[in-house]
Amino acid sequence: EIRHVRARAVWDSRGRPTVEAEVELADGSVGRAIAPAGASVGSGEALDLRDGGDALGGFGVDRAVGNVKGEIAAALAGHDAADQQAIDKLLTELDGTPQKSRLGGNAMVATSMAVLKAAAASAGLPLYLYLAQGRGMSVPLPQIQIFGGGSHAAGRVDIQDFLVVCANAGSVADAFRKTAEVYRSAGELMAAAGKRHGVADEGGWWPDFDSNEQVLDALMRAIEGAGLMPGDDVFIVLDIAASEFGSKGRYTLGLERRTLDTDGLGELLGRWIERYPIVSIEDPFAEDDEAGFRAFTAAYGHRVQIVGDDLLVTNAERVKAAASKGLATCVLLKPNQAGTVSEAVAALEAAREAGFATIVSARSGESEDTTIAHLATGWNAGQIKVGSMSRGERTAKWNELIRIEEALAGSARFAGWEGLKIERR
Ligand code: PGA
Ligand code: ZN
Repeated sequence: EIRHVRARAVWDSRGRPTVEAEVELADGSVGRAIAPAGASVGSGEALDLRDGGDALGGFGVDRAVGNVKGEIAAALAGHDAADQQAIDKLLTELDGTPQKSRLGGNAMVATSMAVLKAAAASAGLPLYLYLAQGRGMSVPLPQIQIFGGGSHAAGRVDIQDFLVVCANAGSVADAFRKTAEVYRSAGELMAAAGKRHGVADEGGWWPDFDSNEQVLDALMRAIEGAGLMPGDDVFIVLDIAASEFGSKGRYTLGLERRTLDTDGLGELLGRWIERYPIVSIEDPFAEDDEAGFRAFTAAYGHRVQIVGDDLLVTNAERVKAAASKGLATCVLLKPNQAGTVSEAVAALEAAREAGFATIVSARSGESEDTTIAHLATGWNAGQIKVGSMSRGERTAKWNELIRIEEALAGSARFAGWEGLKIERR
């Protein structure tokens, strides 16, 4: 039974305020969670409530914090924290808007996750075990960023994420070791070229390049420089985040001073699939480009995972529609896109129903909160995407996965290649 709901403004990894919610139950159990925040935001996402005005660039969350302490705390008092669906329904109805703009998606997701964590604490279980409820679990395959880009690097290159997966690694700890070698090697390569200028928002190296394809070449050299085999030890993953540089079938690659139509962008990505060991491409087209997604999934969906992020915004109805139209093969799950844990679970279940793969994902604005490491494991999602091998808000999640893998030794395996739902290479 929920006794107190508290909230406060804390800081995220971009130096912006965000909402922390804290839920205390009658038995003294406490759950605490911090809302993350995106930069490349899908138009269908739950909306964060920000204060506006001049202070903190308008990013203040005093109103959202006030909503948790006021209306939300009053509504949740006395309710059963173990009935997550009822809690989330109550929150959603209390808000009453299609995109949670009244109370704020930030207020709601922090509260929803804090309730979940309080319930797990009350059950005396780590969150991943509480979520699994005796069903199968696996330690997720991590997609790890090596170079940042797009809106996470001031548009220095157009493509947002250049990542790797060590799909044939023996454990998540082994995947981190190999990826750390690639990350180090990429840093040395940038330093040698006089282009090491620090890191982007998710910890990947700052992308000082003259074309988007140059980043892929650098990534290949970094993998080889680490003594690893591209297409065997290490595979490439891209998040194009195409909504950030295109709409209505026109895509402007600012770095290369050229504009492509849907077919042109599809051909470019198709050439990259032929030339590089790519296993997954996220948001290859803008969220309004269904024709692009459909044709691309038909052409490449059998060999490369086609991931919907801005396209699907962790929404079960959108996932079902995408499945029936053949727009993607994998769903990115970001709890704060949905706004409550239960709605994220509904998107997960819709993905399962459709035979889609799933990736639990952080946002570019993050904190030390490690909830998503537990969600990815307990939900048996198969994959997780959190950013790079640097910056504490990223490594907090990776380090939690190392602890989880150790605790689960013998009782749950590393998802590895099985996390991807494509033919093994
Ligand atoms: P965001 O980026 O958190 O800025 O939306 C993450 C992603 O696009 O996957
Ligand atoms: Zn994305």
